[in-house]
This record gives sequence, C-alpha cells and structure tokens, in this order.
Amino acid sequence: MGNRLIGYGSYLPERIVTNAEFERIMDTTDEWITTRTGIKQRHFASADETVVDMASAAARRALENAGISIDDIDLIIVATTTPELDFPSVGVQVAGRLGATNNIPAFDVRGACTGYIYALHCARAFFTSGIHNRIMLIGAEKMTRFVDMSDRSTAVLFGDGAGALIFERSTSSYSGIIDTVVMSDGGGFGCLHGTPDHRISMNGPETYRRAVLCMPDAARYIMQHAGITAENVDWIIPHQANLRIITSCAEKLCFPLDKILVTVDRHANTSGASGVLALAHAFDNGIIKPGQLVLYPAFGSGLTWGAALIRV
Ligand code: ACO
Repeated sequence: MGNRLIGYGSYLPERIVTNAEFERIMDTTDEWITTRTGIKQRHFASADETVVDMASAAARRALENAGISIDDIDLIIVATTTPELDFPSVGVQVAGRLGATNNIPAFDVRGACTGYIYALHCARAFFTSGIHNRIMLIGAEKMTRFVDMSDRSTAVLFGDGAGALIFERSTSSYSGIIDTVVMSDGGGFGCLHGTPDHRISMNGPETYRRAVLCMPDAARYIMQHAGITAENVDWIIPHQANLRIITSCAEKLCFPLDKILVTVDRHANTSGASGVLALAHAFDNGIIKPGQLVLYPAFGSGLTWGAALIRV
C-alpha cells in the first residue's frame, strides 16, 4: 500500500530578525553567527501569534494547493514541541480552526528537531496498514517561547514557522513516503533539553558532535534499505540547524553541495517545522520539482534522530 504527496504549504511570521538586530541587543556579531552557524536572519512570531495560528495558516495553504477541503482529510499529525497549551493537542485545535466537520482524528508528535521525521514515520505506518487514506502532516514551532535573550549561545540559533504536507494513499509503492527510520538515545539528555522555566539548555559542541554522526548514519541506513546510492537521490534536505553540520553531513555522505537544500540562512532552526517548511518553501520557489527523490535526515533533543526517503 503506497502513498503520494498531493499538497504543501508553508507559513513564516512577518517579522524578520537579522543578525544586525542581535548585534544591537547582545554581545555578538554577524561575523560570529555567520561563520559558526550560517544563519543570517530568522522569523519571529508576534507575542500573540501561536503555534496553532502558524500551523493553521500552513495547513490552509496545503489544502488550497491540493485543491481539497479539510473534510477530505482523515488524519492530522502535528510535529511540535512548543505548544502554548498542554492540552488539547495542536492537531485537534487546527482541525477546529479549519472547520472540520467529520470528527477526524488528530494528535501531536513530540520529537523536537526530529519531530517531522517521527510524524512521517507514523504517516507511513498508517498508509502501510491501510488505516488512513489522506493524511495532513504539519510541523509548527514557536521556538521564541524558549529563546532566552540573555543567553547569546542559544538565542541566535532559532526561528519560528510552520509547514504542511498532504499525502494520500496510492497504488505506487515508490512515491510519497517510501521509507523512514527513527531512533533515540535518552542517555544523550544532557546535550540538549528544555528546562521547567522554558529555556534551552544546550551543550553546543557535544550536540554538534552527535549530529554529524547520527544524521549520516540514518541517511546511510535509508539508502541501504532502499537499495540506492547518493547518485539516485535528487535532493538531501537535512534538518536545518546549522550550515556547518549540514556541510559536514553532506561531505560524509559524498553528496555534492548543489544537491543540498539550505534554508537555515533565512529561517534559522525551526526545530520540528524545519524539514517540512524547507520542502514547502523549495516547491514554492521551483527549486524541487515533482517526481524528484528527497532524502531527509534529522537530529534533535532526546537525543532523537532519523531519516525519511520521499518521492515528491
Ligand atoms: N556571539 C559571540 N560569541 C558567542 C556566541 C554568540 N552568539 N555564542 C557563544 N559565543 C562564545 C562563547 O561564549 C564561547 O566563548 P569563550 O570561548 O570565551 O567561552 C565561544 O563563543 C565558543 O566558541 P566556539 O567554541 O568557536 O563555538 P563553537 O564552534 O562550538 O560553536 C555552536 C558554537 C554554534 C553553538 C556549535 O557548538 C554548534 O553548532 N552546536 C550545535 C548546536 C545546535 O545546532 N543546536 C540546535 C539544536 S540541535 C539540532 O537542531 C541539531
């Protein structure tokens, strides 16, 4: 039982915060941020803009793009780690916002920066089992809820945004979400975690070291499992955390840099939204074309990591 991608949408908050703006409010420089991370700017949601607002905006665009209505969807999965409310889920709130009338199931996945790969993994399982026919997968984060402007080592790294993808069941087993792999190591908790007072605790160098090991490993596993090599892949969309992590992963996998999609320079790290937002953005800009094969490795807090192979 296969599936195919039938719609996409993205949403970025209006406010763009450049490195120059950080230079004015903390002891940092554009040069430090650019050389260490590749980030030049990020989008910050307004104080009253919520994860549900951003997720709903991306979802509406994906429905428009697919030419269907919310009642044509039979499951919503949202990858997010930054919901304003502990309950109900962002997914259920999005269904309400979009006016769903068919009682569709909806739930959230908490996989931090690997959240959208965990969501793709769930979607693949639901298609394989034949339980659902048309799934909307959303990645949405308001990372600024956790950004502490007095901590220059993390404040400059993150941004807000959302992306949405719609997949439907198809007879082809070589389209849509073809394969996924997800992993975790709770022993890596100390690398990167949220704190009870909503801050980010991060051991930057250790997080970096694990990311450049785990993402290539997951990508290799997926290629081996699918019986393909780097030459068969049209695009690699690594989790958009840091340009140095991205280029290091590309080198380890022997991928030429012109096959690597980079949005971290403009969006910074949007965690569970990153890969979905990057793909929707690439479609909007005509960079990725229908039918191309995309490899999606990701890594994040947990530690969690994984990869997906998608024919778009
Ligand atoms: N501006 C200027 N200086 C800074 C800043 C800043 N914004 N932040 C930290 N520094 C300083 C530190 O205080 C430290 O100064 P010190 O040496 O006087 O103590 C120094 O810069 C550290 O510099 P480096 O060792 O060169 O930093 P490094 O090369 O390790 O880069 C970074 C730091 C960018 C955080 C790196 O470790 C990294 O990318 N880690 C991965 C983190 C990440 O991507 N997290 C996102 C979530 S996980 C994920 O999504 C994969």
